[in-house]
Amino acid sequence: MFLNDNALIIGHRGLSAFAPENTLPSFLKAAKERLQWVEFDIRLTADMKLVVFHDDTLERTTNGEGLVSKKTLSELRLLDAGSWFAPAFQNTNVSTLDEVLLFLEAHNLQANIEIKSTPEQAESTVEAFFPYLQRWPRGKPYPFVSSFDHKTLAHCRHSFPQLPIGYLVEKINREEIEPLLDDPFCSINCSNEHNTLDDYQTLIQTGTPVFVYTVNKLDDARKLFAAGVQGLFTDCLTPSLLR
Ligand code: G3P
Ligand code: MG
Repeated sequence: MFLNDNALIIGHRGLSAFAPENTLPSFLKAAKERLQWVEFDIRLTADMKLVVFHDDTLERTTNGEGLVSKKTLSELRLLDAGSWFAPAFQNTNVSTLDEVLLFLEAHNLQANIEIKSTPEQAESTVEAFFPYLQRWPRGKPYPFVSSFDHKTLAHCRHSFPQLPIGYLVEKINREEIEPLLDDPFCSINCSNEHNTLDDYQTLIQTGTPVFVYTVNKLDDARKLFAAGVQGLFTDCLTPSLLR
């Protein structure tokens, strides 16, 4: 099996139904609920630092405005990335990739790092990210790296032959993914809104691991695991609910 022998429950942006997405409180909630994996999104600031942040703009999840890519890290640090979710999370910071990796290490959580970028920043994002993989401690499993930008992932594969890679797609399109299927360290990570159990099973039969996002209903999760899906991304499901 890919990554692990067991089906994986991966906290989506932490456990983002309970705390502001992609922040330390959200990762802490995942750890408390005994998840083993969390997914989070990274993107580049104007001064070439990687921060953990989903949208390309600040408005939805902070009190700032404009593009993340036009702000320096110190500008982002002044923002409140928690109040939009609930007053109790006021002044939660935007975190750097370094901080989140340290936090996950301390809480025994494994990382699925989703690389986001604007088209103009795709290359510089990879350049900023590769040093993390180059200095990844020997003996520690690599993070699971994914992106909707398959060129970025091809670049990762070229430099890191054994890196676990998840090709993100909304809908499974066999022609598009066919060239990827011989790679023993790759999976297809696809949307539950755009695919059926049959779509997953047909792909799984070729030996390709399939991960599904975003699954928040227990019944859906059970059906997906019964169909052989290797993992799912969830905002709220926990191992104790799925037991
Ligand atoms: O990796 C699964 C999921 O995170 C992909 O979509 O928009 O939530 O990053 P999004
Ligand atoms: Mg994501």
